[in-house]
Amino acid sequence: MTNSTPYIQVNNLDFAYPDGTKALENINLTIQIGEFIALIGQNGSGKTTLSKCLNGLYKPTSGEVLVESLNSKNTPIVQMVRRVGYVFQNPDHQLFNNNCWDEIAYGPRNIQLSEVEVKERVEEAAHVVGLSEMFYEEHPFFLSKGLRQRVAIASILALRPQVIIVDEPTTGQDSRQSIEIMEFLKDLNETHGHTVIIITHDMYIVAQYARRVILMSEGRIQADGTTAEVFSKPDILQKTFLEPPQITQLAQSVQGLGFSPGTLTVQEMMSQFEALKKK
Ligand SMILES: Nc1ncnc2c1ncn2[C@@H]1O[C@H](COP(=O)(O)OP(=O)(O)OP(=O)(O)O)[C@@H](O)[C@H]1O
Ligand SMILES: [Mg+2]
Repeated sequence: MTNSTPYIQVNNLDFAYPDGTKALENINLTIQIGEFIALIGQNGSGKTTLSKCLNGLYKPTSGEVLVESLNSKNTPIVQMVRRVGYVFQNPDHQLFNNNCWDEIAYGPRNIQLSEVEVKERVEEAAHVVGLSEMFYEEHPFFLSKGLRQRVAIASILALRPQVIIVDEPTTGQDSRQSIEIMEFLKDLNETHGHTVIIITHDMYIVAQYARRVILMSEGRIQADGTTAEVFSKPDILQKTFLEPPQITQLAQSVQGLGFSPGTLTVQEMMSQFEALKKK
């Protein structure tokens, strides 16, 4: 499969919960292998619901979700989750085994791999997330939030999905843990070839790591483009109660001097400053 073949294709997706809440309306998007996407938007805008539609946990009320051309409506969930893994907003909602090994082995056992293959998958996933052997027998409950998050990610990686969606990877983590987890997701994307989708409220993290931003509000996609493009639309951001990082706001306020409104980092700002000084 080449990079330009859509891996996920969503056409006219609507989703309503059984109580009638319309959570998604007319979602259209295409996701290619190798992307690093941030899904952003206010509380209740539909980010989690969309993610659960992408991995087949929820079936469309109307429209369709195609993953590698498989329609989520009639594809068994095990086939879907082997392609698109979803790490829950709160890892504690997904951890239910008595030790880390069984937790990570759960998915591979569920798809009936042999114990030899299960062992291979668990060791591989634990290695990728940097979970050392001494934690294998530990109860996930006794680990730090950062480590529980890693066990949750490892349990999804053990199914070797092409796409991994992590719902709020940095919430509740201190800044060192946040950087660690983001650098780890960056490595999964760049070194291990995974397509990564993060859901986050932290615009600094978005500017630093995501190459594409999908902005949602009230169940609809309001903007979809490169991070610089979406952050250069102050009117849409304002309408959706989001603010780009301070450095982007600063660049936008001195745009008249020649700074790009899509400036994302201090380094980018500095190099423009150096170039402007030479003029
Ligand atoms: N199980 C449910 N039953 C009924 N309505 C729900 C359910 N889960 C979510 N909703 C509603 O669906 C809409 C989208 O919710 P969703 O959880 O997808 O938003 P979100 O963008 O992930 O929000 P947050 O940033 O708070 O996690 C909201 O109106 C929410 O109240
Ligand atoms: Mg959510």
